[in-house]
Amino acid sequence: MKTYKIACIPGDGIGKEVIPAGQEVLQALAGGGAGFDFQFTSFGWGGDWYRAHGTMMPDDGLEQIRGMDAILFGSAGDPHIPDHITLWGLRLKICQGFDQYANVRPTRILPGIDAPLKRCGPADLDWVIVRENSEGEYAGVGGRAHQGHPIEVATDVSILTRAGVERIMRFAFRLAQSRPRKLLTVVTKSNAQRHGMVMWDEIALAVSKEFPDVRWDKELVDACTARMVNRPASLDTLVATNLHADILSDLAAALAGSLGIAPTGNVDPERRYPSMFEPIHGSAFDIMGKGLANPVGTFWSCVMLLEHLGEKEAAARLMQAIEEITADPKLHTGDLGGKAKTTEVTAAVIARLKNR
Ligand code: IPM
Ligand code: MG
Repeated sequence: MKTYKIACIPGDGIGKEVIPAGQEVLQALAGGGAGFDFQFTSFGWGGDWYRAHGTMMPDDGLEQIRGMDAILFGSAGDPHIPDHITLWGLRLKICQGFDQYANVRPTRILPGIDAPLKRCGPADLDWVIVRENSEGEYAGVGGRAHQGHPIEVATDVSILTRAGVERIMRFAFRLAQSRPRKLLTVVTKSNAQRHGMVMWDEIALAVSKEFPDVRWDKELVDACTARMVNRPASLDTLVATNLHADILSDLAAALAGSLGIAPTGNVDPERRYPSMFEPIHGSAFDIMGKGLANPVGTFWSCVMLLEHLGEKEAAARLMQAIEEITADPKLHTGDLGGKAKTTEVTAAVIARLKNR
């Protein structure tokens, strides 16, 4: 029997509630006839670690998890620590340290979810946003000078490399090719950003020649927001820079009914390093410790984790169980207008997995 080593990093806030729930659900799928098992190792990195040690994770943190098959991550963010420290000290350190250059964000309106788009049905919204996850606006290049003086200057420079853009375009075309509609929208802003984004467009065109069976178009990022609202069915797979996709994916999650549902994979397609799966929502300190967090974003992230490990059947079983519980309004958490607790939703998913 294959045993997958999973690093669990709950992080901060409700991450500490949803990650254990995700572990329980994964464990319910393993063992027996499944043909695989899990060995979970938890790491208490994040805001509490920072208070105790002055860093978000130990210096050799990446070494400690390098040999894992995958990482399940909760969220990083603490009201008492500046956001750029929590982000750069943990999540980005792992994403960039392990060159997880493809961030994959599927969005669908799951059964039973009351989504805000009234002019279209659930079938009209089935997207995957591919976010460039290693450079662009998140490259960390820039600086400040003359600090505190009237002439102070600050820069954040977006870095786009030919290698970085080529690999994310290839990944996105390949993903689009694997989906029934074989349709890719390349999100750009080459009208205003006349260097990097123009190269982005040129590379998209060049890479498209390798995928003659994929239909593709280009959309300016601002126009893309309107298109997501007005013509959702005209989109399928999208590829965008780090920041553009960050913004579009929050819009996508909201249009699908709740940020509490949306999953993410930070993927190293070359499999040199472990990939990391996480719910898209943040640490939500306002509801932490109350058992109110929606675990569905984590469960769907577990589906992506299982797919990444090649456990397609288990992934499909879990997705089916998730869709059965979202279909039941009694199992909706507060973000969906319901009253269910994290533990009730988790128990309901596990009960459905056990019944098959
Ligand atoms: C996301 C989040 C992060 C990001 C935050 C927590 C810094 O919004 O994963 O989309 O911007 O990358
Ligand atoms: Mg975001």
